[in-house]
Amino acid sequence: MTMDMQCSWKVFALAALAAGSVAAAGQAAQKPAPPAPTPAEVAIQAATEKDHQRVMDALGIKALRPGADGDPHSPRAANYDESKANSAAALPDPLTMNDGRKVTTAGEWWKLRRPQIVELFDREIYGRTPVQLPKVTWEVLSTTRETNGGIAVITKKLIGHVDNSADPKVKVDIELTLSTPTDARGPVPVILELGFSKEFLAMLVQRYPQFAPKPGDGPTWQQQVLARGWGYAEYVPTSVQPDNGAGLTEGIIGLVNKGQPRALDDWGALKAWAWGASRCLDYFEIDHAVDAKQVGIEGHSRYGKASLVAMAYDPRFAIGYISSSGEAGAKLFRHLFGEEIGNVAGTQEYHWMAGNFLKYDSSLSVNDLPVDAHELIALAAPRPVFIGAGATEGDGWADARGMFLAAVGAGPVYKLLGKKDLGTPEYPSIETALITGDLGFRQHTGGHTPGPNWPTFLEFARRYLHAPRVVQ
Ligand code: GCU
Repeated sequence: MTMDMQCSWKVFALAALAAGSVAAAGQAAQKPAPPAPTPAEVAIQAATEKDHQRVMDALGIKALRPGADGDPHSPRAANYDESKANSAAALPDPLTMNDGRKVTTAGEWWKLRRPQIVELFDREIYGRTPVQLPKVTWEVLSTTRETNGGIAVITKKLIGHVDNSADPKVKVDIELTLSTPTDARGPVPVILELGFSKEFLAMLVQRYPQFAPKPGDGPTWQQQVLARGWGYAEYVPTSVQPDNGAGLTEGIIGLVNKGQPRALDDWGALKAWAWGASRCLDYFEIDHAVDAKQVGIEGHSRYGKASLVAMAYDPRFAIGYISSSGEAGAKLFRHLFGEEIGNVAGTQEYHWMAGNFLKYDSSLSVNDLPVDAHELIALAAPRPVFIGAGATEGDGWADARGMFLAAVGAGPVYKLLGKKDLGTPEYPSIETALITGDLGFRQHTGGHTPGPNWPTFLEFARRYLHAPRVVQ
């Protein structure tokens, strides 16, 4: 990822926390001074605004409603009062067909209802992943024997070359690293994280030393995963698709469109990032160190959104840890708390979604959305999904309760498929894990970070993922 792709302080903090240690998590909130935009960033912003306007014009939209403001003194300050969050809003029923008929069997879900929900998400929210996509050829750049937290691992640095013969100007190379325990007795489960490249993280720490891991931080997420005999992998989504509107004519979206702007129901960055995650899984299927039937996916914040989309659209992912994914992720759009639709529809975030999505922030509203986040979670059923977030003080923007309510709303689909829901519709007190069902939830006391929920997720995941048995 290049510096011109991101510049908000939140992203910096997020990146530093991608290291994900348990104790480091609480230090998330330190706010480094935002660097002045570079000329490249200014040019990206201008091109982004132009494309955003193009989408509005194509939809006949004169103005969008602005989103919530992170500044508590602003007249449009984000709502953090549950009594004003519209919690009683009626949600679309995942088990009622478009024509009003009820879904009562698993067969009807798979054959009739699920495709309807997929179509609605495709057309109105995330956009359609093209049917014809270029081939990806994986290359192992290096294989290194190293140790992590005292455990010997073999680390492969990989590149997935995307065939760009359709438009040689656009080059897409998927960045992935994979580490598996050296002494594994067979193919191991792997947790795939969507995150930032090591080079980017190193650059951050150099620029913001306060984010450097400190002694006593506790085991990193990778070390916690290794302790269970599993492997870990890190994929860099921005190597597939830039994280801004200007970049929609580049990356995999631009490559498929031959550098032309998107149609209104074309895929957005979340779908593109999820596509890249699926290509990583293709690689795991041919690497004998990995048990590709036991691959979990994890992402935080915007990558939490992309991870949930990947879980929903690729049934090969065995389990998901969806951290602080918020608006356009696991949070109900209809729950008006923290971030709002106006933020996602604005110039900084609209590229995550299809152009059509902007309609719901103009003449239409969230109450007109034909689907909501509970149905995205339901698309992952019957596979296990753990949803996490931090406290309102520090992570209110992501709206833990809005994600909890969505997980509750996905419950009936899990039950129809013979699985367990969250077990309660009551919002648990902070730090109380709900992990006895096939949907999991926990709100930690830290800020905008996945760190504190890693141990809980791994506790949940151990019911599903199993390291090869040690031969005595
Ligand atoms: C912004 C954005 C969120 C997103 C977050 C992140 O805050 O509004 O939707 O999750 O960035 O990815 O850090």
